[in-house]
Amino acid sequence: MGYAKVRSVALHGVAGEVIVVEADVAPGLPSLVVSGLPDAALSEARDRVRAAVHNSGAHWPQARITVNLRPAHVRKHGSGFDTAVAIAVLAAGADLPIARLGNAVVLGELGLDGTVRPVRGVLPAVLAASRAGYGFALVPLENVNEARLVTDIDVRATDSLGRIIGYLYETQDLLDPDPEPRPMEAAALDLADVLGQERGRRVIELAAAGRHHVAMFGPPGAGKTMLAARLPGVLPPLDDKESIEVTALHSIAGNLAPDGTLIRRAPIQAPHHTASVTALVGGGPGFARPGAISLAHHGVLFLDECAEFSAGVLDALRQPLEEGKVRLRRSYGETVYPARAQLVMAANPCPCARPGGRQMCHCPSIVRRRYQARLSGPLMDRVDLQVDLDPVRSAALLTTETVEPSSVIAERVLDAREAAGARWGKHANSNGEVPASLLRDNRFRLSRHVLHPLTIEMDRGRLSARGFERSIRVAWTIADLEGRTQPDVAHVREALELRSRTVQ
Ligand SMILES: Nc1ncnc2c1ncn2[C@@H]1O[C@H](COP(=O)(O)OP(=O)(O)O)[C@@H](O)[C@H]1O
Ligand SMILES: [Mg+2]
Ligand SMILES: [Zn+2]
Repeated sequence: MGYAKVRSVALHGVAGEVIVVEADVAPGLPSLVVSGLPDAALSEARDRVRAAVHNSGAHWPQARITVNLRPAHVRKHGSGFDTAVAIAVLAAGADLPIARLGNAVVLGELGLDGTVRPVRGVLPAVLAASRAGYGFALVPLENVNEARLVTDIDVRATDSLGRIIGYLYETQDLLDPDPEPRPMEAAALDLADVLGQERGRRVIELAAAGRHHVAMFGPPGAGKTMLAARLPGVLPPLDDKESIEVTALHSIAGNLAPDGTLIRRAPIQAPHHTASVTALVGGGPGFARPGAISLAHHGVLFLDECAEFSAGVLDALRQPLEEGKVRLRRSYGETVYPARAQLVMAANPCPCARPGGRQMCHCPSIVRRRYQARLSGPLMDRVDLQVDLDPVRSAALLTTETVEPSSVIAERVLDAREAAGARWGKHANSNGEVPASLLRDNRFRLSRHVLHPLTIEMDRGRLSARGFERSIRVAWTIADLEGRTQPDVAHVREALELRSRTVQ
C-alpha cells in the first residue's frame, strides 16, 4: 500500500502540458476511482488498464485505489495516459520499483492484452516534455520515429506493459530500434506537365510568390485542378519551425506515416465539396480534431468546384483565414489550432459546365447570375487573384516545346518572397497579407501615373475599391518577381488584365 506518481502529457490544441498521474492505494474494498477531469474515454480506461495489468502477468492491487491526474484544470483527453496509470497503480500498490523511469514522461494506450498501442499527437507531446525539461520519453513502438523528431530528449519505446515491468525489474530492455531509413519525399507534381495554359501557370507563380489567395474560373478540362495541385511544388519549403508545427498538426490528426518523417513541403488539403464545417475547420465530438484548414497550415487549402460548397461551409472559413487560426469552442473551453492556409478555389463559370466555355453555355442568365453570386461575398473579397482561364487548345497539348519546370519557378518565388519580406518587415510576410492601410502609406503609395490603368477602370465602374487594392497587391508581386523595387505601370496593367471578370 502506498503512493506513486508517473508523468505523462496532455494536449490542448497543439500545445502540450506535462501532467502528473498519481496513484494512492489504501486498504479497503477493492475499487478504482479516477479523478482530475477525465473525459469519457478515460473512464473506459479503468477497465482497459485493469485487464492489461492482469494480462501482463502482474497483480492488480486488491484495495481501494485512487488515481488522480493533475493539474485538475488541464483538460485531458483520450487513451494516451493508460500506460502511465497502470505503472502508477502497480508502483503504489504492488511495489513495482519505478526508479529507472526517473525523469520520464510515459505515453501510450493499453490494449486489453497488455500491448502498448500508438497514440496521436506524440510529436507535440514529446516536444512539450522536452521544453519542460524532461530528459526521457517512453513511447509506443509505433510512435518511436515520430518521437525522435525531437532531438534533445532520450526516446525509448515499448510494445507492451510487460516489457516496461521487465525493464523496471531489470530483467528486460526497452526498445531502441535503429532509425528507419527516411524515405525520400515523393517528388512534387511539376508545372512542366501543364502545357499551353500560360495564363494558368502565371497565376500559380504569382499566387506562390505573393501568397495570394487565388480563384480560377474556367470550363472543365482547362487544367484548374492540375494547376492547383502544383502550387505546393513552387512554394518555399517549410522552415524548421513551420515544419514542426505542420507535422504536429498532422500527428494530432493521426495521419502521419509511421516512418515519422518531418513534413518539409507545404501541405495541400483538398476537401470534397460535400465536406462538413467540422471537416473543414475542425471539431467533432469529444476531443476536437484539426480540420482541413489546419492540416493546410503553411500550405494550401484547395476548394475544387468551390461553387458547390454550401454557403455555411464557406462562411466558416472566413474568420480562420483572417486570423490564421481556428478557435473551436467546446463545453470545457476553447481549443485553438493554427490555420494559416493559402486558399485556392476553382470553379466552372456556370452550372452547365460545358467544355467549350462561355460560347457553348446555354444557361439562362438568371441561373448564371445566381451561380456567380455564390462565388462572391466576404470570402471572395480576400482573394487577390481572380482569373478566368480559357480551354487549352489541342495544339498546345501536341507541342514539343518544353516549358519551365517547377524547380526554376520555385527559385524566382523564393527571391520574390524574400524581397517582399524585407520590404514589409514586421507588418506582413507576403504581399497577400499586407493590410490595405500599408499600401496607402506614404512609403509605399504608388504614383498617379502608375495607378492610371486602375483609376480608369474604377471611373468606368468596372473595378471596386477592393478590386483596386487587390490589383495593387498583385502588382507588387509582379514587380518582386522581376526584381524591381516598385511596380511600374506595366505591372499594374498585367495585374488588372488578370482579372477578367466584369465588376470585382
Ligand atoms: N494544360 C494542360 N496540359 C496538359 N494536360 C492538360 C492540360 N489541361 C488539362 N489537361 C488534361 O486534362 C485533364 C483534366 O484537367 P483538370 O485539371 O482536371 O481540368 P479542370 O479542373 O479545369 O476541369 C488533366 O488530367 C490533363 O490530363
Ligand atoms: Mg477540376
Ligand atoms: Zn452554362
